[in-house]
Amino acid sequence: MARRKQIYEGKAKVLFEGPEPGTLVQYFKDDATAFNNKKKGTITGKGVLNNRISEYLMLRLGEVGIPTHFVRRLNMREQLVREVEIIPLEVVIRNVAAGSLSQRFGIPEGTPLPRSIVEYYYKSDELNDPMVSEEHITAFGWATVQDLDDLMALSLRINDFLTGLFLGVGIRLVDFKLEFGRLYSGDDMQIVLADEISPDNCRLWDFKSGEKMDKDRFRRDMGGVEEAYQEVARRLGILPEGGPRDFKGPETVQ
Ligand code: C5P
Repeated sequence: MARRKQIYEGKAKVLFEGPEPGTLVQYFKDDATAFNNKKKGTITGKGVLNNRISEYLMLRLGEVGIPTHFVRRLNMREQLVREVEIIPLEVVIRNVAAGSLSQRFGIPEGTPLPRSIVEYYYKSDELNDPMVSEEHITAFGWATVQDLDDLMALSLRINDFLTGLFLGVGIRLVDFKLEFGRLYSGDDMQIVLADEISPDNCRLWDFKSGEKMDKDRFRRDMGGVEEAYQEVARRLGILPEGGPRDFKGPETVQ
């Protein structure tokens, strides 16, 4: 890693300059944070699993016509992605009440929502990612009305597809967070799915038992965090027999 130029270090990932112009290498760490960095820890093997899970989900989404930044997985912890201009919004899609929605409105966790709800949060650690409306987003120039139309349409298509995909492996997709970026080619601009999709940014509950299989196990000190991430990978058919250690290949390319 030492010889490559680091572009950005986030809480769970590092971005490096890619091998060709317009590409980046996305490196997945084992570090876990919650409550805007107030809680910190390590989930052993998380980076390896999230790299695989996100690769799998981005590829499946690509097959049904969702444009994404994903190019290919490089090794155990790294994937090649297209360099995009990140839209400074976290787009949260909810199917079942949980987390901050349950707290804000006093709706018990697990209550199905009458329809899927899309929320926007402004990406800012200093401000604690405040929830924002479309009015704020367009007035402050974070995205245009057209961008928002695209974001909403893509988010709902992604939700439909992922809900079905997870249902097929006995998992309820309760809610999740997406990030999008602008991909420029010549005069054209396309909004594409960026960042990652993994148990770090989804709520995934076992369909039968309701057991949590996501980062809430870390946030709420429930234990069994590594096992939960492994189980998600196993159900998606991407975890070898012996667990993450049996994945073949180097952790990084030097
Ligand atoms: O905390 P809250 O209920 O608003 O989270 C909704 C969904 O968005 C959860 O799946 C959570 O994992 C995800 N999320 C995230 N990053 C954040 C905030 C929420 O991935 N900064």
